[in-house]
Amino acid sequence: MKTAIITGASEGLGRELILAAAEQFPEIESYWLIARSEEKLRQSAELLQGRETHILPLDLRRDESYDILRRLLEEVRPDVALLVNNAGCGMLGNVGDGPLEDQLTMIDLNVRGLTAVTHLTLPYMGEGSRVVNISSIAAFCPNPRLTVYSATKSFVNAFTRGIGDELRSYGVSATAVCSGPMDTAFIYNGGIKGNSKKFEKLPFCDPAQVARGAMRAAAAGKAVYTPKGYYKLFRFVAKLLPQSLVINMTRT
Ligand SMILES: NC(=O)c1ccc[n+]([C@@H]2O[C@H](COP(=O)([O-])OP(=O)(O)OC[C@H]3O[C@@H](n4cnc5c(N)ncnc54)[C@H](OP(=O)(O)O)[C@@H]3O)[C@@H](O)[C@H]2O)c1
Repeated sequence: MKTAIITGASEGLGRELILAAAEQFPEIESYWLIARSEEKLRQSAELLQGRETHILPLDLRRDESYDILRRLLEEVRPDVALLVNNAGCGMLGNVGDGPLEDQLTMIDLNVRGLTAVTHLTLPYMGEGSRVVNISSIAAFCPNPRLTVYSATKSFVNAFTRGIGDELRSYGVSATAVCSGPMDTAFIYNGGIKGNSKKFEKLPFCDPAQVARGAMRAAAAGKAVYTPKGYYKLFRFVAKLLPQSLVINMTRT
């Protein structure tokens, strides 16, 4: 039975990714939904009428969660057609200010968690399957006041390119999704909303559109998907200009 594993599936972009995956990949009959909130995951599972769903309430910052996922994968041996690494967080503030825990949480979830879930899942992915890693426009250049967040998302882009190349000969594709801001819990939990004039002026992306575009890009085997012409242009400019100039644009 073809299976999808989606992290950060309890709300925000994750819910839209569930709907978009179901639409784009009707052959997938089973969904494993991962996040911390069991109750919200149950609500997400209700979106998948007629498909088998497994709720996995796991904190992806913790090694114990990787052990649980490993054991479950070994037991069920699913045919994973789609892995979406979407769980992520970002906290606004200078690196030297605020609690160390916030900085480490971003690294543990956005980098360690994503790497662990990918490593554990890859042995169950065959020809034609897809990895989708949710990154950000913050990956394109260091973003002062979101320094650790943007560094984690640069990792996600580099990691996605790397595994994309490693997996090509197995017929598995990897896509990094680099969205601009979306009005989800992310911007409130990270203290971003209301604390950055520049951020408020950016064009916001619609999570449903981002999710649909991400699944179309994955189906086409694209390495990077950036929604909106504005951010496609930014990606291009960030590659061309010296970083010192681009950082002036990205300082939140
Ligand atoms: N919103 C934006 O402006 C924006 C822009 C660009 C990229 N992104 C990226 O989009 C992705 C989704 O974010 P979102 O905007 O949908 O934010 P969100 O609404 O806050 O969703 C984050 C998801 O991650 C899960 N999560 C958080 N901590 C976790 C942990 N320790 N273990 C397991 N799951 C955890 C959350 O569920 P629980 O709380 O139940 O664990 C939730 O399902 C992230 O990777 C983010 O970096 C967001």
